Amino acid sequence: MTDLRTRAVAYLKQLAVAAVVLIVLGALGGFFVMLSGIVPIKASSGHWAITKAILDAAKRRSVATHTLGMKVPPLDRPGMVIIGGGQYGFACEACHGSPAVKQPRVAAQMTPRPPDLRDVALTYTPDELFYIVKHGIKFTGMPAWPSRQRADEVWSMVAFLRELPSMDAKRYEDLTGRAIAQDDRLPMEDMLGPAADVRPAITQNCARCHGVDGRGRGPGALPKLAGQRWEYIAGSLAAYARGERHSGIMEPVAANLGTDEMQAIARYYAGLPRGDDAPGTVDTRLIQEGREIAERGVPGRLIPACTECHGPGTERNPNYPRLAGQHADYIAQQLGLFKGDRRGGTAYRKIMLKIAGQLTEEQVKAVAAYYESLRELRER
Ligand code: HEC
Ligand code: HEC
Ligand code: HEC
Repeated sequence: MTDLRTRAVAYLKQLAVAAVVLIVLGALGGFFVMLSGIVPIKASSGHWAITKAILDAAKRRSVATHTLGMKVPPLDRPGMVIIGGGQYGFACEACHGSPAVKQPRVAAQMTPRPPDLRDVALTYTPDELFYIVKHGIKFTGMPAWPSRQRADEVWSMVAFLRELPSMDAKRYEDLTGRAIAQDDRLPMEDMLGPAADVRPAITQNCARCHGVDGRGRGPGALPKLAGQRWEYIAGSLAAYARGERHSGIMEPVAANLGTDEMQAIARYYAGLPRGDDAPGTVDTRLIQEGREIAERGVPGRLIPACTECHGPGTERNPNYPRLAGQHADYIAQQLGLFKGDRRGGTAYRKIMLKIAGQLTEEQVKAVAAYYESLRELRER
């Protein structure tokens, strides 16, 4: 019996030694094959089916493991697909194609080839899509989201991707703002001097999300620029360009602009009427509560009156943004970012950190509703 056992142990030991030798030889062999340079790295021939299957399985397993326990926020706020759509047209279509645009020939020559997301988007859960879009995929050309500080923007992209498979070209063009970009009807007719030079930047770029009229697109997801103070607009663009205000959407846009262009675009939008589109909320009790906070602050919680800096009625510093007529959703979203210290900005942004931190959810909703309810208040 013991004899049998000793023999078995000896046999297992031999096996183990053989396995180690094989692994070392294999690794050495692989190393010399790599050194010899015979392994092709050319993209032109694509992957063998077996290589593709292994890489795909590794990708899906990695994504599944890294999203264990991740919480998915609600994805049905109507503004989300608009923010995601604007960015898709700007940053993803050139590789993945879209319901309106075939995949460009150059992107089709990549290995792996960027897939048509209409076919694959729903094979991932929302948290998996979030993980891929936020972090990108190594060795494939799939880039990471440009700003690591923001999760909300990435979730907006996820909301858009979930809708993409059932989208027709018309809905796609509406969501990505392409229709607007092609319509350069004017309030721009009179643009002269430096402003004329930035006209293409406005129609082809900014307008896709902010409109040629600067009122933002869709139900309040995107900030109104019309009637905003030009100093604040230009200052914010500079802050995005320096990476001091965080947004995976606005940082790349602003980084492409020079200081003169920023100022010319800022003056263009600042000069437009804010407009009196229908108010989002008609909850007069909420609006009244917001008005009290805006005009008097909340002394018990050391919250100053917002009107001191944001108006209406006061213009303290041209770098302080106007809030009258701004979309409530956007105001509430920015206050949420300030609260979590994820809203960068100009050197003045520190003022807001403390103030926002003191506001309750209910108070945020109330001031946002109040400011949105104010109309056409350009006081210059
Ligand atoms: C430079 C080209 C490029 C750009 C730009 C790009 N992607 Fe990709 N993407 C790829 C490639 C290549 C893959 C395939 C990776 C693979 O097969 O492992 C991929 C994969 C993906 C996947 C996973 C699908 C799958 O099963 O492999 C998603 C989701 C995705 N991209 C979304 C996006 C979004 C959203 C954007 C825009 C924010 C974007 N991509 C921008 C190249 C790109
Ligand atoms: C793909 C959509 C998109 C495009 C294109 C775009 N923006 Fe934006 N913009 C956004 C979003 C989303 C925000 C809110 C970002 C945030 O939370 O900081 C924003 C914010 C801004 C702000 C800050 C507003 C405020 O009240 O603080 C300014 C200024 C701005 N954009 C100007 C521009 C200009 C000028 C262009 C063109 C050169 C442009 N944007 C192009 C989506 C876009
Ligand atoms: C002492 C001046 C001051 C007071 C008081 C103040 N703010 Fe601000 N707020 C600022 C400044 C400055 C910014 C711009 C920061 C930046 O982007 O650099 C700002 C930005 C904001 C923004 C973002 C606007 C945008 O377009 O992105 C919101 C929303 C806001 N404040 C809401 C409020 C509310 C609500 C109150 C009152 C409870 C308030 N603020 C009180 C100075 C102030």
